[in-house]
Amino acid sequence: MRLTKLNRLINTQILQGGMGVGVSFWKLPRAVALRGQAGTVSGTGAALVVPRLLQEGDKDGSIARAKAAFPIPELAQMVWDRYYHEDGIVQNKQYKSIPMPDHEPKELKRALLIFSSFAAVYLAKEGHKGLIGINLLEKLQAPHLYEALGAMLADVDFFAVGAGIGDQFPKMIDDFYRLEVASYNIDVKSGDGYDPGTYEMTFDPKTVISRQDFQRLGIEKPPCLFIVSTPLAAKAILRGMKGVLPDGFVVEGDRAGGHNARPRGDFPLNDRGEPVYNLEKKDNPDYEYFRDLGLPFWIAGESCSPEALQRALDLGACGVQIGTAFSFSRESGILLEIKQRSVRDGLDGKYDVYTSLTASPTGYPFKMVMRKGTLWELKVYEDRIRICDIGYLREAFWKKDKNGNKTIGWRCSSEPIEDYLGKGGQIEKTVGSVCVCNGLMATIGLGQYRKNEGRREPQLITSGDDIRFLQHLQDKLGPDGLYGAGDVIDYVLGLAA
Ligand SMILES: Cc1cc2nc3c(=O)[nH]c(=O)nc-3n(C[C@H](O)[C@H](O)[C@H](O)COP(=O)(O)O)c2cc1C
Repeated sequence: MRLTKLNRLINTQILQGGMGVGVSFWKLPRAVALRGQAGTVSGTGAALVVPRLLQEGDKDGSIARAKAAFPIPELAQMVWDRYYHEDGIVQNKQYKSIPMPDHEPKELKRALLIFSSFAAVYLAKEGHKGLIGINLLEKLQAPHLYEALGAMLADVDFFAVGAGIGDQFPKMIDDFYRLEVASYNIDVKSGDGYDPGTYEMTFDPKTVISRQDFQRLGIEKPPCLFIVSTPLAAKAILRGMKGVLPDGFVVEGDRAGGHNARPRGDFPLNDRGEPVYNLEKKDNPDYEYFRDLGLPFWIAGESCSPEALQRALDLGACGVQIGTAFSFSRESGILLEIKQRSVRDGLDGKYDVYTSLTASPTGYPFKMVMRKGTLWELKVYEDRIRICDIGYLREAFWKKDKNGNKTIGWRCSSEPIEDYLGKGGQIEKTVGSVCVCNGLMATIGLGQYRKNEGRREPQLITSGDDIRFLQHLQDKLGPDGLYGAGDVIDYVLGLAA
């Protein structure tokens, strides 16, 4: 009997966590899946990575392969015509602009989103039968309909949704699976006298693919895991799903890389100004709650060791989700020299990570590697001229248009301060707010060139706090100073020689 996608997932002890932007594009998830564990493509920002790789000439030909397999050729062609540069982009030339996500995406934006998430999943799944999921951050809402459809066209094996209450995903996935109109309500903040509310985005997949072509793909419906930090978020998702049970959870601790959940209620700061979580009480992940729910779950955050895996299994989890150790690996999308430095610094005891309450415009705490020359350094941060031209972390707000009609505007706390204030943003939110979009693109070697500054965008590196795994992977380092994703898996499964 053929196992369902969920059944196969439940039998998987290691999930490689989705890592945006482009850290887990397709090579890393594929490497993980080839070793029998589950790889997760980062859906967030895939539609930024693809057009920039096309402008770099699609050097390895991978996007051309995805294009050839894409079931809606005219959409892929639209992206190709706009962004592909056969000879690659000339040095010190700006990448072409990418339309920013909003509530009324034009055709090119929709094509970019659908094709890019298809491409990432398709390439990660190419040539094997292992499990490949896609990770999306709930809070980055406007692109979800298109990102989800693209991933499903590539027969994605699961969704993993974090950074927010993702209870709208299962219905959206189900609607797309039946090729029906799907919708996603995006949050809209108050403004111009209007109360906060929601705006319903809808998309009819039949406008881009016929039922016949869709059925020919033979897609199996993917399960959806929710990434949460405490039972509180899980309960909100359960409530939102109105009696339908979620497929499972990833329970992520505060030491995990990327964005973290905010501590609940009032919380103290340590002497570096980082939030202090009360893990005994209000911020307790309470694994027993998840075990008693009877739904599959994995434990994420400082879980890269055989002992952590055993502990997770003892607590009733299916296994662990790992990010940081994979992000340093040979197959991750982070620039080679950044990874080499991370491994060296880590082994030399010079690696440190700061949990910032202000850096991410999402409002979630965000972990930044404390490395000179990156946006963590105050001078680098202050020298950067503010610009918002990617816009993934913008929030929607109500406003009146020229004719006095209610409409939606978009703002980001890291955009030029006058612009943000002009859109009703609060000055406090701009302090220490980092352009995460441009910074993370720079870290994977696709940073924008700024003519006015005469340089590329500075990098922003995120990582978890726990790097103890390095001691155990030290003897696996190759001439490039790195280990492979397979070495991480062997170590955690206790298979390392
Ligand atoms: C470089 C990096 C980027 C990340 N980006 C995302 C992301 O886009 N979405 C997400 O849900 N989690 C993200 N994470 C979290 C991982 O998916 C994973 O859950 C976490 O790293 C596990 O903890 P660990 O870092 O201690 O292994 C990121 C982590 C890292 C290190």
